[in-house]
Amino acid sequence: MNTFSAPKGTYDLLPPESAAFLAVREALAAPLKRSGYGYVETPGFEDVKLFSRGVGESTDIVTKEMYTLTTKGGDELALRPEGTASVLRAALEANLHRGPLPVKLWYSGSYYRYERPQAGRYRHFSQVGAEALGAEDPALDAELIILAVDAYRSLGLRDFRLLLNSLGDKECRPVYRAALQEYLRGLDLDEETRARIEINPLRVLDDKREQVQRQLAGAPRISDHLCDACREYHDQVRELLTAADITFEDDVKLVRGLDYYTRTTFEFVHGRLGSQSAVGGGGRYDGLSQMLGGPELPSVGWALGVDRTVLALKAEGIELPSAGRTDVFAVPLGEQARRALFGVVTELRRQGVSADFAFGGKGLKNAMKSANRSGARFAVIAGERDLADGEVQLKDLESGEQTSVALETVAATLRERLL
Ligand code: HAM
Repeated sequence: MNTFSAPKGTYDLLPPESAAFLAVREALAAPLKRSGYGYVETPGFEDVKLFSRGVGESTDIVTKEMYTLTTKGGDELALRPEGTASVLRAALEANLHRGPLPVKLWYSGSYYRYERPQAGRYRHFSQVGAEALGAEDPALDAELIILAVDAYRSLGLRDFRLLLNSLGDKECRPVYRAALQEYLRGLDLDEETRARIEINPLRVLDDKREQVQRQLAGAPRISDHLCDACREYHDQVRELLTAADITFEDDVKLVRGLDYYTRTTFEFVHGRLGSQSAVGGGGRYDGLSQMLGGPELPSVGWALGVDRTVLALKAEGIELPSAGRTDVFAVPLGEQARRALFGVVTELRRQGVSADFAFGGKGLKNAMKSANRSGARFAVIAGERDLADGEVQLKDLESGEQTSVALETVAATLRERLL
């Protein structure tokens, strides 16, 4: 058979596993919905410049990983590689920043990065994200981190760590950057990395190679260069997290792969995912609005990876929610019964009882197999003889017990037994 396959680096979500994915997505969003975040949805593609300017010209995301296209009308677009720039663009465009602040938004959707596929790293993946726009308040940073931890905990996830850092602001970061550059220029590094020192030296700290990491041992630390305002801000975030019973680890090398961050940055890493261990991450981005041509709008947010959270739950052996079952399965024998039971199924559904039907004119044996496979609690079976008596057979698929019930009252009987 010569059919198509899903594109490289993507996978399909199909029942029954898709139910777990949906449940995880809902669980990640649930704490946001209880905390004043409103739902936002933006297009799957944007002007390519939104990301090159917002995420950063020198980042891997922009230089290597964006899916870009030119439309027939000549517009340069990119499939969204992340959500923050889009959400901020939408909020500015709708003038939300002129209303009460902060504007708190959450989102959920598909993102696209042309990365080398491996376990936990896909070219199409899903995030649940949150952005709080227009307030410089350590309690807002703490709120978001607490909500992410609560979301993971609600799923039963245990083996994850929270890494925390501050990247300073426009006062202290340039001083640190210069000190770091000076240190890095004295190291034995390849040409590409040497070029990176001049464009984005903080990214060098994130280099995963052993021979690079070894040389970074004596590098200047951002924590020693924070200005008083940034230090005070960071201390407050840390205190609020501690008071909320959140354990974190200081990681002065946590710079993240996007250029818009200032002050608070954080990442959630899971212990059993191999090299793609980040299940979520985020931080403060006080300068992004101005980078996009907007007003000053200090903001903070995060995005949690749905695909990797599902993998993390599996790795911990946590039972994932399975596909929703129907409560009733109808098995008609003969044309007259088909019509009568199709009517019963429609009535049940309208009354809020989940019900399914043996489609495709199956014989009794196959239809009963379908009924058992559906996980339904009850089967409603009817043949010509039952209908002649105005009756149907109601079978409890757990106990095996079977009783005759009047066709007229079967929907009411089922509703009573199930609800
Ligand atoms: P990010 O760290 O690039 O941040 O992505 C967040 C999460 O998305 C990651 O921790 C990971 O779980 C998931 N993820 C990223 N790339 C892939 C991939 N190729 N395959 C599977 N999962 C992936 C952001 O996107 C920022 N917008 C977060 C943010 C919001 N910062 C402030 N506000």
